[in-house]
Amino acid sequence: MKWWQNAVIYQIYPRSFKDSNGDGIGDIPGIISRLDYLKELGIDAIWLSPVYESPNDDNGYDISDYQAIHPDFGTMADMDRLIEEAKSRGIRIVMDLVVNHTSDEHQWFVEGRKSKDNEYRDYYIWRDPVNGEAPNDLTSTFGGSAWEYDEKTAQYYLHLFSKKQPDLNWENEKVRQSVYDMMNFWLDKGIGGFRMDVIDLIGKKPDEGITGNGPKLHHYLQELHQETLLNRDVMTVGETWGATPETAMLYSDPLRQELSMVFQFEHMQLDEQPGGTKWDLKPLDLTELKRVLSKWQVELKDSGWNSLFWNNHDLPRIVSRFGNDTDYRVESAKLFAILLHLMKGTPYIYQGEEIGMTNRKIESIDEVDDIESINMYHERLSEGYRKDALIHAINVKGRDNARTPMHWDDSEQAGFTTGTPWLPVQSNYKHINVKESLDSEDSIFSMYKKLIQLRKDNPLVVWGDYELLLPDHPSIFAYTRSYQGNTWLVAANVSGQEERLELDEDRRVGKVIVSNYGKEEIDLEMAVLQPFEATVVEIA
Ligand code: NOJ
Repeated sequence: MKWWQNAVIYQIYPRSFKDSNGDGIGDIPGIISRLDYLKELGIDAIWLSPVYESPNDDNGYDISDYQAIHPDFGTMADMDRLIEEAKSRGIRIVMDLVVNHTSDEHQWFVEGRKSKDNEYRDYYIWRDPVNGEAPNDLTSTFGGSAWEYDEKTAQYYLHLFSKKQPDLNWENEKVRQSVYDMMNFWLDKGIGGFRMDVIDLIGKKPDEGITGNGPKLHHYLQELHQETLLNRDVMTVGETWGATPETAMLYSDPLRQELSMVFQFEHMQLDEQPGGTKWDLKPLDLTELKRVLSKWQVELKDSGWNSLFWNNHDLPRIVSRFGNDTDYRVESAKLFAILLHLMKGTPYIYQGEEIGMTNRKIESIDEVDDIESINMYHERLSEGYRKDALIHAINVKGRDNARTPMHWDDSEQAGFTTGTPWLPVQSNYKHINVKESLDSEDSIFSMYKKLIQLRKDNPLVVWGDYELLLPDHPSIFAYTRSYQGNTWLVAANVSGQEERLELDEDRRVGKVIVSNYGKEEIDLEMAVLQPFEATVVEIA
């Protein structure tokens, strides 16, 4: 068994976690000051979103120096101390590896754009204009063309994200070697691995319109593995928006020596209209969520490995998204925790999820920080969309939802900073905060803590076979996990009304392992699930 197979990983978005010096921006010493809290929660590793030198066009996902720490976050000495301090508490640090692109202020790009024969020119993807225009109609995730014209050398460069994020040319061996050298610099410091940003894009063939899943992708990942990960006890998780169970197996089959696992996003795209983008909203159909998650559970049963998540710094808060963040906030936050943490794979918790933090509500675009939301707003406004519909879409899906500062206590600015936070603290911090959660045995935090421990104590949670029950029920999500003669039933009512749980199998009374309604025993013959009730029962 690998250490990450029964591990739970906690994601920190450093700008918003804990500020130690009053500048309103979270920092590394702030993280160090909260390691005991994370130890208490019981997590094994931290995925740290980028802390590198960056002009912050995309909040650190535009890196100008991979081997330097942004002064907003501290120094390299702080980083070394974080790795050490975490290690002494049994926590590993997983760094964010953003190598599909750099910042346009990275030395490689600054040099390469000087002239066509510069030695760094081929580090990026440059093309001549076609009939005086962009080489083709590839678009950027953040709006507009993916090609930007550069006057000086009269060529276009490719950027699949903002124009300040030029794409690296992975076909150039020197690029790959530079990336491997940089990875080894970090691995030699004793980090626990990497989360790899949009890694499925590195094999792109832009001239053929291919961005994700390009022909050489797996070849590059195998080479990367040989050059950096081989013989190191680390984990890797690739961000792969287009993954299917078939491709996920290619990435994560240990025999292929690529990655430990990938983040797939199929379940995170069910509340958007088919053929649309994330901004084209559609209500969630629970049967689809069950179908998709179950498909991943079953198909990666024997080969490959699942990552499990509801949240990250790009996604809205789960309690506001699929739960109920008003009348049943506590119940529904716990329900989603139970549903996810009883599945097979490696669970991820995004900061604030463990206390049930909610989405942020804005009234106007001036309140928005996120480049993706801002660009979408202006683009769609010029196409004739209504302002209120766009603001609504940002409230539902915008990335700032996850990025508001962490609520530590009920003091001013939620204990996040003594200064002015870079993004306003949400007004509900007075009753949703860490201090209050730690004081109560009934809190969402306590539920997460219990679920993490359950995984440590029960091989069934790590290895058990998964089976979906009641696939067509519109509001009950129920499944079993079975291992060496033991079976646990997970039953959750994902609605605000009572629901009868009618199982056709011959199951009677079961001992409750976990319940978000404090139940101790359940009579399966006449069980009624309360609104957002979730229960785990031992049935064999
Ligand atoms: C995915 C990251 O999670 C997101 O925050 C970022 O904007 C893009 N990749 C580009 O790096």
